[in-house]
Amino acid sequence: MNYHIVTYGCQMNLHESEKIAGILREQGYERESALEEADIIVFNTCCIRENAENHAFGNIGALKKLKRAKKNLLIAVGGCMAQEEGKAAILREKFPFIDIIFGTHNVYELGALIERKRKQRKAIVSLLEDRRETEDNISPVRTSFPNAWVNIMYGCNNFCSYCIVPYVRGRERSRRAEDVLREVRELVAAGYREVTLLGQNVNSYQDGEMKFPALLDAVASIEGKFRVRFMTSHPKDFSPELVAVMKKHENICKQLHLPAQSGSDRILSLMNRRYTRKAYLEEIALLKREIPDCEVTTDLIVGFPTETDEEFEETLSLVTEADFSSAFTFIYSPRTGTRAAAMEGRISEAVQKERIMRLVERVNENTRKKSEACVGKRVEILCEDFDEKKGMYLGRDMNGRMGYFKCEKDRVGDFVMLEITEANGISLYGREV
Ligand code: 5AD
Ligand code: SF4
Repeated sequence: MNYHIVTYGCQMNLHESEKIAGILREQGYERESALEEADIIVFNTCCIRENAENHAFGNIGALKKLKRAKKNLLIAVGGCMAQEEGKAAILREKFPFIDIIFGTHNVYELGALIERKRKQRKAIVSLLEDRRETEDNISPVRTSFPNAWVNIMYGCNNFCSYCIVPYVRGRERSRRAEDVLREVRELVAAGYREVTLLGQNVNSYQDGEMKFPALLDAVASIEGKFRVRFMTSHPKDFSPELVAVMKKHENICKQLHLPAQSGSDRILSLMNRRYTRKAYLEEIALLKREIPDCEVTTDLIVGFPTETDEEFEETLSLVTEADFSSAFTFIYSPRTGTRAAAMEGRISEAVQKERIMRLVERVNENTRKKSEACVGKRVEILCEDFDEKKGMYLGRDMNGRMGYFKCEKDRVGDFVMLEITEANGISLYGREV
């Protein structure tokens, strides 16, 4: 028996799908196959923006034919969209052929739900409001060697006014530090060369007395050659202690993902972000003073309700001032139930599109400048994949830059020193030295 998992959204979801795969293996599904050959198809959905939901709706709808042709096929839909208020009912109505709908707090019981569904005709909907425990004891089928994702916390308490995450992921809960450390030790012993600590807001991690900088310090101190990454950090919880730990350990990647969202104080306040442009820039200044080669990446939203041209310009100028090495840029998408969705002053689609184009251009310009400065220099990458189209291996350096090189042997999992010969946008090309 085969399984197929379709994942939308962030790294959190990608890692959750690895856990779902672990559960499916326990249920006797042996391997991941093409969609058409699967005996169970699981959708792990995202609802952060409307287009993520539209994609999922489209692709779930397309399963109707497959389900009709294959009577024993099971279809399960879980993740953020399934957890969203009212969405499970809409899914039931639109797609009556779905067998199981499970929420973000129900992943741990997916195995039991599958067993139950095998014995009954009726579809199963299992949604909990909030669950304090975590799905820690599911062993994942990892898919991102030589990197491994490790959850350190779940949920979010921040309620940024545009964001649906706190509603679908529940309140913050941190894993026990000893469990995190054990998992990382095992991963390093098993040959993983990079761990990425995951949480919606890692800086609010807390297990008893232990906060995030102390946990990061302990993780980075584990014996062995491996790198540590972490995401995501919230600027309001950024601390000099975090910078000190990053500086102390050579194996902590010198790259910080620090979502700014906007460069305008009025918009930041409407977004309930709880920092100012000035405070944000001061954090970056401190970071670069202590760790001059540290790169900063970010998330930016354009077209938040009532955003004026001048306020958008402040986001543009932040890109240059903060000197982002890259950025994820988004058009504001109203999410039912969030505070911003009820705000007046929606920005027209035409203006939003024009703004995002200008923003992407500005980000790319900065990225290009930074990449070009790497030509002639040496960077050590951790080889993570082979790009079929380019016919080249690729991997990231300590600052998050992507480097490509040619090689006859399989190099995935190796640290490779490259001399950069060419830069193209965000990508660097080099030869091994
Ligand atoms: N519309 C647009 N972008 C959003 N994000 C979160 N919610 C929304 C929304 N409603 C973006 C933020 C966040 C990233 C993960 O997604 O920039 O940091
Ligand atoms: Fe959403 Fe804000 Fe929480 Fe990030 S910190 S998940 S943007 S509410």
